[in-house]
Amino acid sequence: MNQDSPLFQDLTSVLYTQEELAQAVAELGQRITQDYQGKAPLMICILKGASLFFTDLIRQIDLPLEIEFMAISSYGASTVSSGEVRMIKDLDRPILGRDVLIVEDIVDSGMTLSYLSRLLNSRGASSLKLVSLLDKPSRRTVPLTVDYSCFKIPDAFVVGYGLDYDEKYRNLPVVGILDPKVYCK
Ligand code: IMP
Ligand code: MG
Repeated sequence: MNQDSPLFQDLTSVLYTQEELAQAVAELGQRITQDYQGKAPLMICILKGASLFFTDLIRQIDLPLEIEFMAISSYGASTVSSGEVRMIKDLDRPILGRDVLIVEDIVDSGMTLSYLSRLLNSRGASSLKLVSLLDKPSRRTVPLTVDYSCFKIPDAFVVGYGLDYDEKYRNLPVVGILDPKVYCK
């Protein structure tokens, strides 16, 4: 996709280019590979936002890992979390005794990951760690620490590389700040 695309025109700025994303994902993959030596982690992709990050990340991890998908919804057509976390698709298999890594696109209030951590801990994972492409620590309303993240970002609404506004912009190859005039109509 080239920079003249209408999708790019809705950004006020590009935060991370394709090259910067690829570099950060490769480094994170190496860290996880080292930290999980001798293990076969179960990596859980939180749909839909984390899907692009997830498929790139798992190809940078040199371990006999397995993958699963879960779908959660909290936003709807808004840039502010509803505070309500809804499970749309659960796991297909038990996670008892597994080393689990939950992979998210972005941590904002922390509500989604805190809900998922409680749920998956109650199912007897042997270990549970949180991975997120982006982290907005200034927005936390519940205490939550992300174990692995690529970038800490300021309080701005971002889209691209899987992140959406009203289901759009997921296919933008970069992460950028969405022009507020798109959602302040
Ligand atoms: P939390 O439960 O408030 O931490 O929100 C997490 C979810 O909100 C993420 O998985 C995203 O789907 C969504 N979200 C939070 N901030 C943004 C953003 O800046 N752009 C797009 N989606 C976001
Ligand atoms: Mg999401």
